[in-house]
Amino acid sequence: MKITAITIFPEYFAPIKLSLIGKAIESKLIDFKTVDLREFTHDNHRTVDDTPYGGGAGMVMKPEPWGEAIDAELESSEDVLDLVILTPSGTRFNQAFANKLVNSKKLVFACGRYEGIDARVAQHYEKVDGVRVHEVSIGDYVLNGGEVAALVMIEAITRLIPGVIGNPESLLQESHNEIGEVEYPVYTKPSNWRGLEVPEVLTSGNHGEIARWRRQEGLRRSELLRKSE
Ligand code: ADE
Repeated sequence: MKITAITIFPEYFAPIKLSLIGKAIESKLIDFKTVDLREFTHDNHRTVDDTPYGGGAGMVMKPEPWGEAIDAELESSEDVLDLVILTPSGTRFNQAFANKLVNSKKLVFACGRYEGIDARVAQHYEKVDGVRVHEVSIGDYVLNGGEVAALVMIEAITRLIPGVIGNPESLLQESHNEIGEVEYPVYTKPSNWRGLEVPEVLTSGNHGEIARWRRQEGLRRSELLRKSE
């Protein structure tokens, strides 16, 4: 999978080299790069923003550098491009969406700052062959920019690529899996910690009982979670 993050802060993506994703990059399961949006400006100040039409607070990201940067990504590969525009007003990201995007050959994350990217960028690429546009939010809160949101999405998506995480079975068991349930509580040694005992069933050796208990606990947690939403 090829992944590009277009940003005015490429340094934000330094942690991507760590841990499992870092290893997946080293072993070429993932081809990751950042693109500095300012490389696609043509003035001395390398301007990427301007005042909003219609007035109001803050600045809006100009469409021209975005257009040039995204066109360069389109021209550099034959693959259909999934263009993810990070915005708090986008469709909410979830596990089902990660499961869908893991099939992408090329993901381009457009990390907006300020009050966002000129709306014509999404509008334009909706009509371009070979591009699927996704305006995405990672949650109902406002971040300073799309970089952290892109990191969250990259982690959730790339860990689903076969070979990225050590034990693929854990993908099936974990929270928000296909049946939409969250995971049961987990315990390890010691069996008594600060007076708290591990549930007896887990030390019983009865695999049928253990599986039943885990299902029940997962369901209970899922219900509690839904009630709190
Ligand atoms: N940019 C600012 N806030 C965001 C959010 N919640 N999700 C995605 N991108 C954002």
